[in-house]
Amino acid sequence: MTPGRTDEKGLRKMKENGRTAWVTGASSGLGMYTAQALRDAGWTVIAGARSFSGASPEGDGTHRLALDVTDGDSVERFCREAKSISARVDALVQCAAILTLGSAEETSVEEYRRVMETNFFGMIRMNRQVLPMMRAQKAGKIVLFSSINGLLGIPFQNAYTASKHAVEGYAEGLQMEVRPFGIQVCLIEPGDHRGGGQRTRLRAAAMGEDSPYAAAFRSAAEKIRQDEAGGSDPAKLGRKVAKMLDRKTIPFRKRIAKPDQRLAVLLHDVLPPGLNERILTGYYIH
Ligand SMILES: NC(=O)c1ccc[n+]([C@@H]2O[C@H](COP(=O)([O-])OP(=O)(O)OC[C@H]3O[C@@H](n4cnc5c(N)ncnc54)[C@H](OP(=O)(O)O)[C@@H]3O)[C@@H](O)[C@H]2O)c1
Repeated sequence: MTPGRTDEKGLRKMKENGRTAWVTGASSGLGMYTAQALRDAGWTVIAGARSFSGASPEGDGTHRLALDVTDGDSVERFCREAKSISARVDALVQCAAILTLGSAEETSVEEYRRVMETNFFGMIRMNRQVLPMMRAQKAGKIVLFSSINGLLGIPFQNAYTASKHAVEGYAEGLQMEVRPFGIQVCLIEPGDHRGGGQRTRLRAAAMGEDSPYAAAFRSAAEKIRQDEAGGSDPAKLGRKVAKMLDRKTIPFRKRIAKPDQRLAVLLHDVLPPGLNERILTGYYIH
């Protein structure tokens, strides 16, 4: 994690608000910026990612613990260690995710499974640990990072899109079940943001130059890359999420996207499917 805006321990101590947030996928991108913003707002932040070593340096006030959300033992270890740092968990923010680009045909079942294991089952593993704690506390906020791709599909990003659609459906039922226990659920639906880590951007192994989809894939992959490179400021999103978590009541959905990406979602919902398909295909495939 890179240093944030308030590095001075004294100032942080003054600001400590007595609340604890666990943040998954906090080693890069939106998870890292959200963890930093929460820390700056005075939260005790317990951050997890595969690349964290398991040590908890106090230097910048964030506790970093090793976490692989695809591995039940790792999730249990993370939760045990997090509870030893702070008995409460006021917010669970789930950002851990990977993305595999490839045609639907040439992405293997194993590659689909890997994305689902991280982006969807990983969230479920964490929630199953945290829900009993939040029910006992009679309070808690669960923030699940979805995506604009949780609402509409685009070509060659099928595994990721499927995983985020799964998150959207899962969260709706979850909120209905847990609200009576004082637990609030929020889906963050980001549009493109800069600065995501390359470790999490994968490509289907079978996507070679001889693929029947090669030309269309190249076009779409380049468009996806350009959109992310020209995306919004991830630090700003982190601060928005931290500000939202300060409120007593949080919204069930929070879309954080540029106007054109908001419009794409709106059109997806109102246009005939054939017209929507032509617009999106025309945008991604030249
Ligand atoms: N960036 C965007 O434009 C955008 C747009 C829409 C939605 N989102 C969503 O926002 C979230 C963050 O995306 P990002 O692109 O900013 O982040 P990113 O840089 O791709 O980071 C993903 C994080 O997930 C962690 N991670 C991956 N596999 C993991 C595993 N098995 N267990 C634990 N941690 C794991 C990675 O750390 P390690 O590799 O160290 O484990 C990293 O910290 C994701 O949920 C993504 O779907 C992002």
